[in-house]
Amino acid sequence: MNEQFRALVVNKTDNDFQVGIKEVSFNDLPEGDVTIKVHYSSVNYKDGLASIPNGQVVRTYPFIPGIDLAGEVVESKDSRYEKGDQVIVTSYELGVSHFGGYSEFARVPGDWVVPLPDGLTLKEAMIIGTAGFTAALSIHQLEKNGLAPSNGSVLVTGATGGVGSFAVSMLAKRDYHVVASTGKKSEHEYLKKLGAKEILSREEVLPEKKGPIGQQRWAGAVDPVGGEQLASILTNIQYGGSVAVSGLTGGSEVPTTVIPFILRSVNLLGIDSVYCPRELRIELWNRLATDLKPNSIQEIGNEVTLEELPQVLPTILQGMVRGRTVVKVSQ
Ligand SMILES: NC(=O)c1ccc[n+]([C@@H]2O[C@H](COP(=O)([O-])OP(=O)(O)OC[C@H]3O[C@@H](n4cnc5c(N)ncnc54)[C@H](OP(=O)(O)O)[C@@H]3O)[C@@H](O)[C@H]2O)c1
Repeated sequence: MNEQFRALVVNKTDNDFQVGIKEVSFNDLPEGDVTIKVHYSSVNYKDGLASIPNGQVVRTYPFIPGIDLAGEVVESKDSRYEKGDQVIVTSYELGVSHFGGYSEFARVPGDWVVPLPDGLTLKEAMIIGTAGFTAALSIHQLEKNGLAPSNGSVLVTGATGGVGSFAVSMLAKRDYHVVASTGKKSEHEYLKKLGAKEILSREEVLPEKKGPIGQQRWAGAVDPVGGEQLASILTNIQYGGSVAVSGLTGGSEVPTTVIPFILRSVNLLGIDSVYCPRELRIELWNRLATDLKPNSIQEIGNEVTLEELPQVLPTILQGMVRGRTVVKVSQ
């Protein structure tokens, strides 16, 4: 198939780095069992890193980024899928070492494909995307470790970001008392609309007096920020409570002690969406279409075109984005 179609291509040579829309063909796509016409993709932090020269996400150039895609199967060698099926692909090597969703067509292994659940449109699936899936996985793990609305309030850090916005709205839908922490003073109304009951600045999350243990402020926390803030959250978790940590926008170094773990039985839960087992992945996507589907899903999503991506991608690395950005790739 030599038909040409559009894709966002990043290329790096010894003395040049380029991000732009190019014509590519089916022969350029990697091997895979399922070929998909991509309707929507989305913008994640990792995609921002893929669009800069030293982001350490892309392994070989030229490359098509985009860690999320949703679209329609046009050809399948995998008996689980047939032409016309609506599907979602996120995680694994997509947009990292395997050409991703910023392309009108993509070809992927069948095991990466998840059927679009009833109750979600392709666009809604991409408003959710990897960030929303990560919020769902965080809540799933917190509840598996005993979190319930009656235990007390739940803190969400980086609350206006992709993971944070979804964590706030999903927890609110499940009747939790949500405390949202944000660095954006201008977005308090947005967070209230998503269901936050209290809003704290990033500084207010840090305890007044730093020490190995502090006041028991929260029953649990969804933390896509990490860094120093995570260390202080651990000192303020109630006895037996848990923190689900998924990200590092605040840094990867966590200056903590063993005290919260050995005196308060606090759990630190690692969240990885990329290699989340397929069975759990399908279960969570079904929940994202039902009990975890936020009421405010449209409030969270903004739409851009493939052509606008080179300008949009750097903004996520500056912490400037509110909610989620979906990319309309083709009709
Ligand atoms: N483990 C996984 O599987 C997985 C999956 C998806 C994402 N992630 C990671 O999770 C993190 C968040 O992803 P995202 O898609 O939600 O990104 P995002 O939309 O850019 O949101 C990140 C938010 O973090 C806050 N923030 C930014 N810089 C900060 C700083 N220096 N200190 C404290 N807070 C800061 C900002 O929120 P406020 O302005 O509201 O404070 C920002 O909106 C990233 O590190 C990403 O790589 C991990």
